[in-house]
Amino acid sequence: MRRSEVRGRQVTFHVLSVELDSALRGAGLGLRRELIPALSAGKPEVISFYEVAPENWIDMGGAKAKAFRALTERTPLVCHGLSLSLGGPTPLDEVFLRKLKSFLKVHQSPLYTEHLSYCSDDGHLYDLMPIPFTAEAVTYVAKRIRQTQDILGQRIAVENASFYTGSPIDEMSELEFVNAVVTEADCWLHLDVNNVYVNSVNHRYDPRDFLRGIPADRVVYMHMAGHYRESDDLLVDTHGADVIDPVWDLLEFTYREIGVHPTLLERDFNIPPLADLVTEVARIASVQHRFQPANSHANAAIHS
Ligand SMILES: [Fe+2]
Repeated sequence: MRRSEVRGRQVTFHVLSVELDSALRGAGLGLRRELIPALSAGKPEVISFYEVAPENWIDMGGAKAKAFRALTERTPLVCHGLSLSLGGPTPLDEVFLRKLKSFLKVHQSPLYTEHLSYCSDDGHLYDLMPIPFTAEAVTYVAKRIRQTQDILGQRIAVENASFYTGSPIDEMSELEFVNAVVTEADCWLHLDVNNVYVNSVNHRYDPRDFLRGIPADRVVYMHMAGHYRESDDLLVDTHGADVIDPVWDLLEFTYREIGVHPTLLERDFNIPPLADLVTEVARIASVQHRFQPANSHANAAIHS
């Protein structure tokens, strides 16, 4: 097991890429409360894992918590946080992080990811804002990611965020910022393919060039989602519609360039019947099978 130096202290990363590889693979679905009755009655085989925002479940008790635990006993769970505010001005919520550590252990969740952004209201409004792309912000955010990893005792992944206006103090591109943060923090990258597409339209760049510049050896997890087309040059990352064909094309390109990794379908609004969601999850799995030999490991390219 590799040890990483974090601010002069030795931290053992309990979850290494090889372990993550064996614990998590295939295609997953965001586990929303309204889906629990149908999934409790029988999980479609194509769903290999679930994802939740731990903030929505961490203090849950009673019958809902029992039904949730029954699902996570049988199917791996990824935790994708909403409120940590890695780029925010207030100190990290260490009480939350210690509760999160227990939650990850109880549910044997192999991966915790957070947005590479900050919350607009001390972490409680869940309105995710972009971090200015500056050298100072790289140092600041990387330090907070390392602090998070230190408390959790495991490496985390950060997700490339969608954003709508650049900051006037930006000193580097989004791609340079993402690369600098994951390198300095020594963390993993959670690559949201739809966010790359949305940003490429809104900020007029080639999404394939962006993906070619991503640190492929840091990617462990991916998201697919739908968005809202406000106009030809403004897309809004809503997670409220089906995935569109250009994003499916981009997923194929991503698997070809970066490798196949566990990939989740996000759907948070206008939620259709489970069968419709399963059709999209199955399409992710089908693309994965085309780009990955049957017995290879999803994260084989990762070096921890
Ligand atoms: Fe995402």
